[in-house]
Amino acid sequence: MTYRNDPYDPKPAAQLDQSALEDGVTAAEKAFAAAADPDALAAIRHQHLGDRAPVSLARREIGTLPPAAKAEAGKRVNEARRRIETGYQHRLVELERQEAQRVLAQERVDVTLPADRRPRGARHPLTTLMERIEDLFVGMGYEVAEGPEAELEWYSFDALNIGRDHPARTTMDTFYLAAAGTAAGEAGLVLRPHTSPAQVRAMLTRQLPVYLICPGRTYRTDELDATHTPVFHQVEGLVVDRGISMAHLKGTLDQFARAMFGPQATRLRPSYFPFTEPSAEMDLWFPQHRDGPRWVEWGGCGMVNPRVLRACGIDPDEWSGFAFGMGIERTLMFRHGISDMRDMVEGDVRFARGFGMEV
Ligand code: PHE
Repeated sequence: MTYRNDPYDPKPAAQLDQSALEDGVTAAEKAFAAAADPDALAAIRHQHLGDRAPVSLARREIGTLPPAAKAEAGKRVNEARRRIETGYQHRLVELERQEAQRVLAQERVDVTLPADRRPRGARHPLTTLMERIEDLFVGMGYEVAEGPEAELEWYSFDALNIGRDHPARTTMDTFYLAAAGTAAGEAGLVLRPHTSPAQVRAMLTRQLPVYLICPGRTYRTDELDATHTPVFHQVEGLVVDRGISMAHLKGTLDQFARAMFGPQATRLRPSYFPFTEPSAEMDLWFPQHRDGPRWVEWGGCGMVNPRVLRACGIDPDEWSGFAFGMGIERTLMFRHGISDMRDMVEGDVRFARGFGMEV
């Protein structure tokens, strides 16, 4: 087309040919399709949409056209550019989705795999029960006293009114580390068969009154079976004060029993211990016992024998006291229905875990 007033010679603007524009679009779409990831795509953007891209050069040529042809050419250039731009955006979305999927697949975590966790231990229920008992008595104003496990015979027996010839010496099957009068020393040494010697030590060293419990490990020459273990634990209690009576003992033990087993009947049954007079066994009533409802012996107790007080330098006319001693294993067995003592001593963590992670 020629126009009379056209100051320029009509020039064929090759870039504005529809087929050239189509080629530009096709080349761009091909190149976008070949880009493997968003970065590669971004790197070629300028080739197809930048200042020197074919569509941009074509747009510049519009200025050379006669005015009547400009609008039509502009439309076609814009359309070509819009298609390239859209192609770019679609490819970008596609590549980003692929990228996200690749990351998801690569960083996939199989939550059903067994966790690589260090197996946790558990505190032994005997330990936690002992601490629970300590808390109970500390709450009632008692102190916790301890003593050696390898103990002198005098504290273990003599001071407790168990003289050398007392028959109770033989009934408490004691491990002797060194007999009295041997080269190891005049005083005999034993693995303590009860925690009572810790109480003798306390009476000899503390100011009266005393309210204390002695929890700890004890030893007797028993074979390990379902109901015996040569190493076991006791908690013994001792009160020495003015005006202490059997009623205080019963009230204290009832409180102890309630804390351990709930509100159930208790009874004191007459018994004998050299170190208490009178002496009793504390029984617990188990209505649900597997062998039928019955009383079960929990531990020994009584009023501290005046001979024991005197051996510890305490005037029995001024002071009186009570004492009791319970087996922790036995208490745990009653509390949790454990029937085999061996479960408690074998140290299998699966047993301890069953009691939870109580701290
Ligand atoms: N010491 C006794 C024992 O081990 C228990 C006991 C303690 C009994 C205090 C009476 C008073 O068998």
